[in-house]
Amino acid sequence: MADLPCNDAMGVRTRQNAARTGQSRQPCGRDLPDNRRAELHAANAGENALFAVQEMRDTVDEEDDVMPKRDGQEQPTGPMKGDFIAPPEVEERDERADALPAQEEFWRPPVRFGAVPVEKEPLGWDRRKGFRKLFPQVMLPFQVVERVQFGHPELEPNRLFWGDNLHVMRQLPSESIDLIYIDPPFFSGRQYNVIFGDQNELRSFSDIWEGGMPGYLIWLNARLYEMKRLLKKTGSIYVHCDWHASHYIKVEMDKIFGNECFQNELVWHYETGGASRQRFSRKHDVIFWYTRSASSWVFNGDEIRVPRTEKAMQRAQNPTGARISASDTHKNPNDVLIIQQMNPMAKERIGYPTQKPEDLLSVIVKASSDRGDVVADFFCGGGTTPAVAQRLNRRWIACDQSRVAVAITADRLTRQVEGQLTGLHQVPDLTVEHWGVYEARRLAEAPPEQFRAFVLRAFGAVVEEHEEGIHGYKGALPVWVGEPDQKKAVTAADVQAFANAMRKTLRYKQDNLRDGILLAWAFRPDAQEAAERLRRLEQTDLNFIRLDMIRIDSPRFREHVSALSTQNADYENFLTFVQPPRVEVGHKRIAPRTYKFDVSETVVMNAGAKIINVQWDFDYGKRFSSTPGYSFVRGSKKEPALQAQYEFPTSGKKRLACKVQDDMGGEGLWAAEIEVK
Ligand SMILES: C[S@@+](CC[C@H](N)C(=O)[O-])C[C@H]1O[C@@H](n2cnc3c(N)ncnc32)[C@H](O)[C@@H]1O
Repeated sequence: MADLPCNDAMGVRTRQNAARTGQSRQPCGRDLPDNRRAELHAANAGENALFAVQEMRDTVDEEDDVMPKRDGQEQPTGPMKGDFIAPPEVEERDERADALPAQEEFWRPPVRFGAVPVEKEPLGWDRRKGFRKLFPQVMLPFQVVERVQFGHPELEPNRLFWGDNLHVMRQLPSESIDLIYIDPPFFSGRQYNVIFGDQNELRSFSDIWEGGMPGYLIWLNARLYEMKRLLKKTGSIYVHCDWHASHYIKVEMDKIFGNECFQNELVWHYETGGASRQRFSRKHDVIFWYTRSASSWVFNGDEIRVPRTEKAMQRAQNPTGARISASDTHKNPNDVLIIQQMNPMAKERIGYPTQKPEDLLSVIVKASSDRGDVVADFFCGGGTTPAVAQRLNRRWIACDQSRVAVAITADRLTRQVEGQLTGLHQVPDLTVEHWGVYEARRLAEAPPEQFRAFVLRAFGAVVEEHEEGIHGYKGALPVWVGEPDQKKAVTAADVQAFANAMRKTLRYKQDNLRDGILLAWAFRPDAQEAAERLRRLEQTDLNFIRLDMIRIDSPRFREHVSALSTQNADYENFLTFVQPPRVEVGHKRIAPRTYKFDVSETVVMNAGAKIINVQWDFDYGKRFSSTPGYSFVRGSKKEPALQAQYEFPTSGKKRLACKVQDDMGGEGLWAAEIEVK
């Protein structure tokens, strides 16, 4: 089985071992020592017990928090909940050399055609530094917020990312994926494309459409370019689009992948929806298939054979002139796939407009990957691709920048695996990893060294392990990081200790470097005064120290990220910290075994946020998996339904849970036991 691209967990990276690149496949490291895990587990268990007396609020997602190590059992493979995965070092290399195919001949048309007004290079390509200049890398780690366990900890988990796919992809190793399918938002310039409505999604849509069609293509090209880097030499990419932009996208794909790597323009034909009176009804989408290499790729035609027509079979019976044998009842499909859209009652339907049918994805996954291969979808929406990959026993990576999409995908996969657990194949766990928007509460629970590594990395500094009292360096400046707990503000004693540590450094003694940085959630007034005193010495005493005190959740901290912004990428919203909503659920019996639930009393903790989605699990067991039909419930005007009604199949004690997401990215969980009558 292929390894899933995975980077080292954080907290172990120092300046000494920071030289790794994302180029090679990296083993997943465990950075939490056993005793620390046990401690954390015990603490969580205690917390559970305390809350269990009440309503189990917020405790439930701690239940599967840390995987207990059973006697004689191996430490689980891959990252665990609470881990941070450090980004790889950026590699300085000439992108043009290894990324764009030589296609001079293709772009030089025969003289008789005259001039063809196309650029040789993809839109947005910078002649000096490729897409990396237009969209600089942002070095933020992945925060593993969940590891949903399916009983095979020894297997490398599948990975579900919440974040902008460009930056998520930048942190994955080259040549590690067998098949990529994407269904990006199409270019229509209308808000219709906004599916989930959370802030990240809205922001990205306004960015995408801002520059019109060229802006859209530049945005997409940077991502296609990264996908090409991620594909294995025998890998394939399928790009799903429609009449809005397909003609432009193909031209760009020719430039990025090489037209010799083009394999098919698949037409997905369906008959749902009304008929047009003004023109031919638009009843197809286009899916471009390109391969990484022009000479070797996977195509399992046998796996996707379709029945021959009745007419062809009749001809086959004819002893004279039959070209196929009568037993040859199936053939490889042609490039028009006739697959109907899901009907409104289909079990797989999640309820948003762009969800693609599993049958369509099955054809693609079967055709272009083998069992155990890694399949990725970086615009996963409601998770159709990972669901199909999972069912067909492939490994998978999925990403979406909408928190709701990620919640729905995690839930869909969990529900599917629960229905599958008795099946023959072993299902790896799945991790949910955040990039760019972090849950402050979970950061606060991290061990101090891991928290420090996270903060230093986000600040663009490196960890220092050997100088006492100094946690890292940003360039030549020593950096100190406060406690993970947001309530523990920095004190005057902390400031003094850092100043003393600085005075011991060679930089201070020899190079006369007197500046340092303190990073923390908050600073007490006495800490501010202490720093002021040290600075005042500048007038009288050579022992002075200049300290910059920067709050972690502040525009100043974020400055180094927004400094990377370019005309094409607005990074100032990256690196935000969110709080989970405090979920309140009221319930009322309205008929035998039938109850009404209401979450409208829920308190969102992020300023200006509103509830964007509610999921219900009326049979809550080991893991959250929503009851079918209760994952993405929308009222009129796409508003999330805050009330739900449910008829329990039997009476008695029932455990139920509710997950609520707000539009800033906070997610809260509530669980309780009720007596159903
Ligand atoms: C058309 S939908 C995909 C639907 C999916 N094929 C399915 O069957 O459910 C496009 C998705 O791309 C996501 N998206 C848009 N821009 C993104 C970005 N920069 N990074 C990650 N996801 C993005 C949107 O949030 C949306 O969920």
